[in-house]
Amino acid sequence: MPSLSDATGSRVLFGGDYNPEQWPEETWLDDVRLMKDAGVTSVTVGVFSWARIEPRPGERDFGWLDRVMDLMHRHGIGVVLATPTASPPAWMGNRHPETLPRAEDGSVVWYGSRQHFCPSSPVYRSYAAAITKDLAARYGDHPALLMWHINNEYCTFCWCDETARHFRRWLRHRYTTIEALNEAWGTAFWSQRYDAWEEVIPPRKAQYLRNPACVLDFRRFTSDALLECCTAERDIVVASARRTPVTTNFMPFWIGQDAWTWAEEEDVVSVDVYPDPTDPLAGQYGAMIQDMTRSQARGPWMVMEQAAGAVNFRPVNVPKPRGLGRLWSLQAVARGADAVCHFQWRQSRQGAEKFHSAMVSHAGEHGRTYQEIKRIGADLARLGERVAGAPVPAEVAILHDWNSWWADEQEGRPSAEVHYPTVVRAWHRALWEAGLTTDFAHPAHDLGRYSLVVVPRLYLLGDAAVDNLVAYVRGGGTLVCGFQSGAADEDDRIRPGGMDERLRDLFGIRLVHEWWPLPEGEELVCDGDRSFRGLLWAEELETSTAETVATYRSGEVEGLPALLRNGRAWYFSTLPDPAALRALLTEVAHEAGVRPVLEGRPAGLEAVRRGDLLFLLNHAPGPLTVTVPGRHRELLTDSPVDGVVHLERHGVAVLA
Ligand code: GLA
Repeated sequence: MPSLSDATGSRVLFGGDYNPEQWPEETWLDDVRLMKDAGVTSVTVGVFSWARIEPRPGERDFGWLDRVMDLMHRHGIGVVLATPTASPPAWMGNRHPETLPRAEDGSVVWYGSRQHFCPSSPVYRSYAAAITKDLAARYGDHPALLMWHINNEYCTFCWCDETARHFRRWLRHRYTTIEALNEAWGTAFWSQRYDAWEEVIPPRKAQYLRNPACVLDFRRFTSDALLECCTAERDIVVASARRTPVTTNFMPFWIGQDAWTWAEEEDVVSVDVYPDPTDPLAGQYGAMIQDMTRSQARGPWMVMEQAAGAVNFRPVNVPKPRGLGRLWSLQAVARGADAVCHFQWRQSRQGAEKFHSAMVSHAGEHGRTYQEIKRIGADLARLGERVAGAPVPAEVAILHDWNSWWADEQEGRPSAEVHYPTVVRAWHRALWEAGLTTDFAHPAHDLGRYSLVVVPRLYLLGDAAVDNLVAYVRGGGTLVCGFQSGAADEDDRIRPGGMDERLRDLFGIRLVHEWWPLPEGEELVCDGDRSFRGLLWAEELETSTAETVATYRSGEVEGLPALLRNGRAWYFSTLPDPAALRALLTEVAHEAGVRPVLEGRPAGLEAVRRGDLLFLLNHAPGPLTVTVPGRHRELLTDSPVDGVVHLERHGVAVLA
């Protein structure tokens, strides 16, 4: 199977989405000149060009794309060629309204924006297959072709009648009999029993709370239905003249798509990452997305999109201050990226994203953004050979599963204050601040190579996952588990005793008497070796063999255990405040033999090892001085370092 290295060679690819169809052809020559000057090696073309290629049903206009592909080839720039299927032309919605998605309330989601397709529509799928086939036939052997890019950020949901039929087929495959579906969904509740498959519908707008197991299965189904669209196009391009790596770009940590499953179906895992420059912890957010993507890829991965400056989808969109784009680009490389690309090359003058930044901004080649882009291009060119393909070692894994997120993020739960991604982020932040590089893993993956595994929150844990965790600890691993983990089984059925019995044995818990979510803003005083605040949640627990590590000292749970350990298995029934979580995980990691990448780091300094290089990344608000034992060579400046590194604001050093 081809991989990212087939596209990169020994380079770190650099570039962005290129939409030449928005510009007169004279501009293309200027584009190429500036691309060459900035060290661009890769452009992603065609992402939203369906109406340009197929102006009327069945017609083809490839002339412009031929010229773009040839132009890029002449200048030695590779093309990541996209199937344009994320944005069907207006004629499709007009002629075939059944291709348009319907919302939960049955209303039509119209064309005039993008991603207006029902993933279950056979008409949409057949037009998508036809254009993909023609693209593959025409460009499958083009010398500029680096990679295939299927669709763009698959993210639609649809509740239409075609979707309902497709959902029923998916359910029949999963459950075989309607009785098994009734059992899995618990339809004895509220008289929801189904007598025939035809009665089953997607969880549409309803009077009151919908069946949670149905909602969970609909999430599973939607991820699978989108994946079918993706693999159908993938199979077409894979069969073309030359086997070229295939990717589809993920949205970061996004609820709609089980990226563990998706990643198995592509040669290259790529992600679009847009941290908020006003978030003081944006560096941590970026690291989390990068760690997650690297883990899905099981190796080098690709930043398909990032912003060169401001985005346009937040209430207030500030540009990146000088140096920040470079810091985040090199951070991605430190955490395993072998390609750093942007949305988009040249800033649009019209359309919905005219305020979204680009590598060449409205200010043009003399603008600050393009000047900084040139610097990033030069840095990546310098690092390419040293870094491409190199692994990022991690001894700690964070477990994450979409199924649990889907079961968790629903109506009618103990607390609407608990947001799964926020809890995961809190734990990743603690490890990031502790200087420990972390992978992400699925709870049923082989965990044997990690010294420490943490579960911020997996409310739903299937039997295989539970057995895996138990076996991991029996095999010598250290496990730390966050509140309410293991409460539900694969079908979102609550486990008797409030937690799976095998897990209760593992953690030394006799019974979970009550879950005790905290009202908005309420915090509990807890103490153990030190006192800290418990956030979001508490539990009324009775231990069996567990040792109490910290105790609640306020609220209704006062006097009860807050944090427990039973040998190498730890259970946190609340979310410790950020400083406490960092200190606790640092201690547990220490006991498990895991040390930070660099001891004695100043606050705001991220240190990451990749291959034989040490990346030092300054996320602090000002300059930093870092002590690094030994003599090194700094690769970006090609200068010697003797024990001390000075980093400007947003500065980076790469030590060999
Ligand atoms: C996504 C899309 C791009 C663009 C950017 C803007 O990542 O894939 O087409 O809309 O967002 O941030």
